[in-house]
Amino acid sequence: MDVEKIISQMTVDEKIKLVVGVGLPGMFGNPHSRVQGAAGETYPIERLGIPSTVHADGPAGVRIDPERKNDDKKYHATAFPIATMLASSWNKDIVFEVGKAMGNEAKEYGVDFLLAPAINIQRNPLCGRNFEYYSEDPLLSEELASSFVEGVQSEGVGTSLKHFVANNQETNRMTIDTIVSERALREIYLKGFEIVVKKAKPWTIMSAYNKLNGKYCSQSKWLLTDVLRKQWGFEGFVMSDWYAGDNPVEQIKAGNDLIMPGKTYNVFKNRKDEIEELKAAYEKGELTDEELNNSVRAILNILVKTPSFKGYKYSNNPDLNSHAKISYKAASEGIVLLKNEDVLPFSKETKVALFGTGQIETIKGGLGSGDTHPKYTINILEGFIERDIKVDMEIAEIYKNKVKELRNGEFKPYMIPEFNRIQIPMLPEDIISDENIEKASEKNDFGIVVISRISGEFEDRKLDKGDYYLSDSEKTLLEKVSKKFHEKGKKVLAILNIGAPIEISSWIDLVDAILLPWQPGQEAGRVIADACLGVFTPSGKLPTTFPKDYSDIPSKSFPGTPKDNPTEVTYEEDIYVGYRYYDTFGVEPLFEFGFGLSYTKFEYNNLNIEKFDDYIQVSFDIKNVGNYKGKEIAQVYVKAPKGKIDKPFQELKGFYKTKTLEPQEIEKVTIKMNLKDLASFCENKWILDEGKYEIRIGASSKDIRLTNSIHLCRKEFEI
Ligand code: BGC
Repeated sequence: MDVEKIISQMTVDEKIKLVVGVGLPGMFGNPHSRVQGAAGETYPIERLGIPSTVHADGPAGVRIDPERKNDDKKYHATAFPIATMLASSWNKDIVFEVGKAMGNEAKEYGVDFLLAPAINIQRNPLCGRNFEYYSEDPLLSEELASSFVEGVQSEGVGTSLKHFVANNQETNRMTIDTIVSERALREIYLKGFEIVVKKAKPWTIMSAYNKLNGKYCSQSKWLLTDVLRKQWGFEGFVMSDWYAGDNPVEQIKAGNDLIMPGKTYNVFKNRKDEIEELKAAYEKGELTDEELNNSVRAILNILVKTPSFKGYKYSNNPDLNSHAKISYKAASEGIVLLKNEDVLPFSKETKVALFGTGQIETIKGGLGSGDTHPKYTINILEGFIERDIKVDMEIAEIYKNKVKELRNGEFKPYMIPEFNRIQIPMLPEDIISDENIEKASEKNDFGIVVISRISGEFEDRKLDKGDYYLSDSEKTLLEKVSKKFHEKGKKVLAILNIGAPIEISSWIDLVDAILLPWQPGQEAGRVIADACLGVFTPSGKLPTTFPKDYSDIPSKSFPGTPKDNPTEVTYEEDIYVGYRYYDTFGVEPLFEFGFGLSYTKFEYNNLNIEKFDDYIQVSFDIKNVGNYKGKEIAQVYVKAPKGKIDKPFQELKGFYKTKTLEPQEIEKVTIKMNLKDLASFCENKWILDEGKYEIRIGASSKDIRLTNSIHLCRKEFEI
């Protein structure tokens, strides 16, 4: 397809219509997308053979409506683990598989662009969308998101790497001005985007809602043209986040090629039709032919690759069974074992009492555009029963009945019209009487308490009981179960079915083990049961720090000033995000970045470092010295010498997840690190300072097993 020829045949009117979406499908009187539930569509120009293309969310699965009016067929899509859990797997292969399966579902349901992955940095534990994001670290985010993009795009469907950039909170996300230094941008917030763009070539990028240092991201020429295109060589098109910014003309001029979803006046009554605004600007000469053509060209260059353009006959019948297996496998790679004092794994003979409403209402993933509509979600109770675990059914029945009663009564889910989403009120946890807890502690070997959380777009989480902290009834339940079971010499396990860190320090001693399955997608109950039984050895490690106390966190300015209605948020912690802060300033976290236990033990040996022109290569051996088979995630941290600027204590520069190692089995690991990636951003360049670089090989950011140093000479790299 000759794009230049098409452009030469297009009228200005057609060009302007192509750079604006057709309006949010199925809302405000706009017709549904042909793929009902999709988030947006582009304008078709039939006379030139340009079809409309369909855009659907999102990171945990293809978000489309599962049911359509007057149609008996179901359009379910697989619910995969949330991105934070994918990141906990540190496994690029499984993330590729997840991406490929999602790409396939998108393609088979008629979707051209999957609005994922989302790689905003988890700057603060309370960001309402952390679950959609990977990590507090750009390298881990970038490595996994690159695999995801490659997976989706291997199916001939586009991705949209989002939200570009520094969209690290939901509070006032559409107007907040994020103030951040260029060094922190380059080293932390832009870094992941830069590498994914260069390595995986996402077809599209979604610019973020927020302002960046005074300018809306979707209207920032510096961001979208100078950095993204000129410096990084991005060749796809940029679309805005839904209804972002305040000036469509500036958007196009800045290099935000597609304004989504179109018809912003549907939502913001004070806004004019984007198409009219663009026409007026064109007529006045404010928007030039060249500027308009640049966007049209960027869009068309990608559209010609889409299934819709190629006339792909989608089946509406993806292989959900095989994708469910991939969802299970990804979850099994991402489960993190946080504490284990002789509890896990347990055998099928073990009698367990399950407490907590989360055993019934197990959270598969978060809300908003990152939500999914799978055919089923196996809850924890169902998973335990299916896997033949001896569950105390008397307690289970009480939970089943009570949850039903509460949901039909006082705790009915309700619609929040302005967010167009269902709110599910949190259930109280004072469901089981003291007598029943006593009885359960007599009859069973273990007490298991499920703690669940859900959050989503539009709102940040709250630093309150029932969110970051346990609710009073959760705390009481834990205390009672802990007391009764411990009195009888029996153990207690907590299962954290959450999307982002909660406070744990104050109650950690009440339990003997903590399993963190995050929000694991539709196979939740099965994968949690199998982890407990040791069908596989948990091998996930934390992609984000769990602080001891909220007051320890570096992002003190979250969510900005003024406090009651922030307009500005200054990233005062600069590059010291996550472990970079905790390690450099000696603040002890509860569970550090990269932490995760296993049923087995690994030994690290034989570190060797070699230097080449542009990179260094480290190699070492990992040996399984325990009694279970399992996988290990080895992490390479580098401590760089101080130059003109301060450096963090250490930074993750590489990692490797082993295959499943049998007891006594050894795997040799080799990791390559480009010298440019060891440099820091200083005075508009990347500078590798001369001096001693300490190479620290760890099982976590704190559990360093092997170290050695290498001397490197100064080098400068252009941006
Ligand atoms: C979200 C995006 C999403 C879009 C379309 C916006 O509210 O920020 O992540 O892709 O909606 O649903």
